Amino acid sequence: MQIVTARGLTKDYGRLRAVDNIDVEIMKGECFGFLGPNGAGKTTAMGVIYCFMPPTSGKVMVFGMDVTEKPSLIKAKIGVMPQDDNLDPDLSVLENLIVYARYFDIPKKVSSSLVRELLAFVELEEKADVNIRDLSGGMKRRLLLARALINEPDLLILDEPTVGLDPHSRHAVWDRMSHLKSRGTTLLLTTHYMEEAEKICDRVAIMDTGRIIAVDSPAHLTAVHGGTLEDVYLSLTGRPLEN
Ligand SMILES: Nc1ncnc2c1ncn2[C@@H]1O[C@H](COP(=O)(O)OP(=O)(O)OP(=O)(O)O)[C@@H](O)[C@H]1O
Ligand SMILES: [Mg+2]
Repeated sequence: MQIVTARGLTKDYGRLRAVDNIDVEIMKGECFGFLGPNGAGKTTAMGVIYCFMPPTSGKVMVFGMDVTEKPSLIKAKIGVMPQDDNLDPDLSVLENLIVYARYFDIPKKVSSSLVRELLAFVELEEKADVNIRDLSGGMKRRLLLARALINEPDLLILDEPTVGLDPHSRHAVWDRMSHLKSRGTTLLLTTHYMEEAEKICDRVAIMDTGRIIAVDSPAHLTAVHGGTLEDVYLSLTGRPLEN
């Protein structure tokens, strides 16, 4: 079963074509990654998929619904961990989650126990009453992951989930992602870390200037082109992948 089917997805910002006619298919239970240099169009492509903005052209179906027709129904089934921290700095860790739960009309009785569970899941229970300003960068990433899970999403979209994390926290987040995957959650992520892509993605789409230049499993891509995923990018574009 396909969770995401995009045909000819194109997104322009004024005269700039950020995503250029891409086709994407993501199967239920799969972990799919967008890879590519800064400005390749990864965040933009994701933004269309999670109904943050409509495509300029193309047809994008998520859970069998068109993103331009049923954005609210789609959003209810998706969790998003954004690239940039957009936590409310005036609230505590716990309050951030409680307020977010209200957007999904989760009753207070349910949300208070759910929030505790999620804080335990990302190992932030001790920080429940701490203000956002007093969290480390890695803790904020983990809180954003917890927040993305508040509506128990069937599709979890993660934009650079482990950027800036130390190796221990990075492994902890990978561990959480594997756990979610084993429960049947479909994962769509972007990453600059080749190790992350190789470790957790079933398939990756390598993006360059708005286009997808290769889609396959990391193992197959590296077997065909040799070396690492960086070498695959170099062999396809003639340029090193610099981030
Ligand atoms: N809101 C916006 N308005 C105008 N241009 C934008 C906007 N967002 C992104 N862009 C441009 O669209 C292109 C793709 O950006 P996007 O953020 O999708 O890339 P990315 O692959 O996610 O990059 P990164 O790895 O740096 O996160 C870039 O040229 C960027 O400058
Ligand atoms: Mg991005």
